[in-house]
Amino acid sequence: MNADEMKKQAAWAALEYIKGDGIVGVGTGSTVNHFIDALATIKGRIEGAVSSSEASTKKMQELGIKVFDLNECNEIEVYVDGADEANSLLELVKGGGGALTREKIIAAASKQFVCIVDATKQVDILGKFPLPVEVIPMARSYVAREIVKLGGQPVYREGVITDNGNVILDVHGMDIMEPIKLEKTLNDIVGVVTNGLFAMRPADVLLVGSEDGTQTVH
Ligand code: A5P
Repeated sequence: MNADEMKKQAAWAALEYIKGDGIVGVGTGSTVNHFIDALATIKGRIEGAVSSSEASTKKMQELGIKVFDLNECNEIEVYVDGADEANSLLELVKGGGGALTREKIIAAASKQFVCIVDATKQVDILGKFPLPVEVIPMARSYVAREIVKLGGQPVYREGVITDNGNVILDVHGMDIMEPIKLEKTLNDIVGVVTNGLFAMRPADVLLVGSEDGTQTVH
């Protein structure tokens, strides 16, 4: 079984968490694309979705899933999204696809965050995957210098503009021993919009697709 098959397995397992008939929070990425395919099979039962990216919105609309603005919704029951890394506390690194800010907003606005990954995403210590940081364009060099002071090596993701009109720095070389502390420290740098650490609001459930089926971690 390859990584994509494992992602698909975890994504379809997440359908079990869509219990009500309300609005589902939907993340971004190749794993979530499988989840959107799964969600389309129950589109008649749910009101619709809120989306964390233009890409997910487009795919959902093509499949006939109604997409709502988050401002039209109350608390979302369930948010389903992938991750680039997950540790045993269900703290995550996200943003490989550049959608971290909208993802973090929907995660914050949701009662339950179900994270879907393949087994290669599970790590003991976060940080091997470069940590994405979304930055207001004019602050890019300043923020990069501040990140160097914290011990990271920021690399500008050239040619990428986020759905919010910002740029991304991918921070290499950090063993993230205190994810909550680093998440707050990065948030405090002026010009940072969001960073890809999901530690203050980790996942509630991790569904891990593997050769041996889908494992559930709480
Ligand atoms: C999107 O910005 C990310 O947070 C994704 O959730 C993450 O990169 C996982 O992507 P894949 O499902 O494509 O591996």
